Amino acid sequence: MKQASGNSILSVRNVSKSVPQADGILHILRNISFELERGSVTAIVGASGSGKSSLLAIMAGLDTPSSGTVLLDGKDMFALDEDGRAALRAQTMGFVFQNFQLMPNLTALENTMLPLELAGKRDARERALVMLDRVGLAARVQSYPRVLSGGEQQRVALARAFVQRP
Ligand SMILES: Nc1ncnc2c1ncn2[C@@H]1O[C@H](COP(=O)(O)OP(=O)(O)OP(=O)(O)O)[C@@H](O)[C@H]1O
Ligand SMILES: [Mg+2]
Repeated sequence: MKQASGNSILSVRNVSKSVPQADGILHILRNISFELERGSVTAIVGASGSGKSSLLAIMAGLDTPSSGTVLLDGKDMFALDEDGRAALRAQTMGFVFQNFQLMPNLTALENTMLPLELAGKRDARERALVMLDRVGLAARVQSYPRVLSGGEQQRVALARAFVQRP
């Protein structure tokens, strides 16, 4: 990947993640460094269990690295406390969890509105409806996650991730 440049939106520097296990330390990520350029599209590929979700969680500030730093638009995410990281993430990132993590007691529409409502946006409903239409779920907006198919849940998760234009 590209080396550091002024155009970098996300900078991962020497990130390692290890977790203690009964039979010793498990090294999930070892010294990962790369830069993502603003406006670029990047895929992280690798075998199941190789650490992709662990890396994404750290890139989003959802989990902390054992060592190393992540700069989001030049800001050191792990210099912030958890609330500070949550606020920064809410303004700048969309995240689709591998298991979607939709709120079970909220409809597709309410799940998609949530990031906008937390940000105090008055047009949350209209914008969420537009985004759900874009992912082909206009007819399912009042459905709860438990009655949606896996792919439909995934599309609600996409709508929720992109509704703020992160
Ligand atoms: N908190 C944790 N404690 C112990 N082991 C963990 C923890 N988190 C992840 N792992 C292990 O780290 C490895 C990487 O997990 P991760 O979920 O990042 O893989 P992945 O590349 O996303 O895999 P998949 O393609 O199956 O989603 C796995 O072996 C997993 O069991
Ligand atoms: Mg994964």
